Amino acid sequence: MFHSPTEFVFGKQTEEKTGAMAALYGAKKALIVYGGGSAKRSGLLDRVEASLKEAGVEYAELGGVRPNPTDDKVYEGIKLAKEEGVDFVLPVGGGSTIDTAKAIAAGVKYDGDFWDFFCGKAVVKEALPLGVVLTIPAAGSEASGNSVITKIDGLKKLSLRTHNELRPKFAIMNPELTFTLPPFQTACGIADMMVHVMERYFSNTKNCELTDRLCEATLLSIICEAPKVMANPDDYDARANIMWCGTVAHNGQCGVGREEDWASHFLEHEVSAIYNVAHGAGLSAIVPAWMTWMLDHNIDKVEQFARRVMGVTPSDVQGAAPGAKYKKVAALGIERLKEFWHSLGLPVNMTELGIDNPDIDLLVKKLHENKGELVGKYVPLDCNMSREIFELAR
Ligand code: NZQ
Ligand code: ZN
Repeated sequence: MFHSPTEFVFGKQTEEKTGAMAALYGAKKALIVYGGGSAKRSGLLDRVEASLKEAGVEYAELGGVRPNPTDDKVYEGIKLAKEEGVDFVLPVGGGSTIDTAKAIAAGVKYDGDFWDFFCGKAVVKEALPLGVVLTIPAAGSEASGNSVITKIDGLKKLSLRTHNELRPKFAIMNPELTFTLPPFQTACGIADMMVHVMERYFSNTKNCELTDRLCEATLLSIICEAPKVMANPDDYDARANIMWCGTVAHNGQCGVGREEDWASHFLEHEVSAIYNVAHGAGLSAIVPAWMTWMLDHNIDKVEQFARRVMGVTPSDVQGAAPGAKYKKVAALGIERLKEFWHSLGLPVNMTELGIDNPDIDLLVKKLHENKGELVGKYVPLDCNMSREIFELAR
C-alpha cells in the first residue's frame, strides 16, 4: 500500500499561503507549535501569524520543543489545545516540532494517556488535522504518518506509525527557510534522509527494479547537491533539491513493493535517547558499522549500493584475487560513504560522535526491551548481533 495524501506547497514565499491552506482544510483556531526559537528569530513565526490573521484563522502558541522531543511537551500541548479549543495543529519547524504536534493532535482526541499509542496499548483512530511549515529537510515527518517521542521516565524513544491519521494535510516547503540552518544541522539532515532511503534499499525482496532505481536516484541526487549546500548555504536550487529529496526519501515511495529494514534507525534511537545526540549524526555513526557487519551476513545489496550509488568500478579492485573482488567492492562502497559523510563534517563512529565510552550493555538492553527480540528485516538482529554492531561502531 502506498498512501501519500499530503498537499505539498513548494517554493519561494510559500509560508504566506499558510493561513489560506489551513482555512482550506477547515481550521478555525490553530495551535502553532515551534522549537527553541529559530522560527522566531528568523521572523518566520510573524509571517505565519500574519497569514493566519489574513485568512481569519485564530491561533494559540506552544514554543520550546527541543530536539529529540520529550513527552512533557506533548502533555503541555494537549492541555493547552483543550483549554484553547483548537481544531487544527500547525507545527513550524523540523521533525522534533512536527512529531510533538502529531502526538498532541492524537492525544487531544483520546481520553487516556497519549503514550498508550507509542507503547502499543492503543491505536490512533482519530486526530486533529495538521498542517506543517517545514524549516529543515531531514526527518521527513512532513510526509510521514509517524511521530517519534522520548518518554523521560526510562528514556524510551519510541515511534508511533499511522497509515493515515497523522499524515499532514499540507506541508509548506520554502527552501529559503533553510538558509539559516547551521552547517552541522544541514549535514545531519542529509545523513538522515540518505538513511531513510537506505533502510528501504537494503531489502531482501527481489525484482523490485523501479523502487531500487528510485532509491538510487534519490541517493545520487543527495550526494550531488549536498556539497553545494554546504559550500553555499544560500544556493536556492541546491537547497530546493535537498528539501524535496528529504520528502521523497520518507513519504513511502522508496519502499513500494518491498520489505524494509529499519534496524539502523532502531539502533540509533537508543543512542540519541541515552546520549541526546542529533539523530542524523547518530545515524552516520551507526550505519557504517551496520553495513560492515553485513559484509559477512548479507552482502548483496551492500555490493549493489557500492557500485550503483558510490560508483565503485571493477578497476577500483583490480589487484584483488577473483574470489575476493565482490566483498572488496562492497567494502570500498562503505569507505566511500564514510569519506562522503566526513566531507560534510559528520561523525562515522561513536567516538567521533563524542561518545568515548558507550555503555553497550545498556544500549543492547534497551534496544531489545523497546524493539523486541529481533530488530530489523534485512538480517533480523538478536542481542548478540546488535552488540557486535554497536561494538563495530565504537
Ligand atoms: O528548535 P529550533 O530553535 O527551531 O532549532 C532547531 C533544532 O535545534 C534547528 N532548526 C530547524 N530549522 C532551522 C533550525 N535552525 C536554523 N534555521 C532553521 N531553518 O535544528 C535543530 C534540529 O531540529 P529537529 O526538529 O530536531 O531536526 P530534525 O528534523 O532532524 O528532527 C529530528 C527528530 O525527528 C525524529 C528523530 O528521531 C528526531 O527526534 N524522526 C522523525 C521521523 C518521522 N516522524 O517520520 C523519522 C526520522 O527517522 C526521525 O527518527
Ligand atoms: Zn531518521
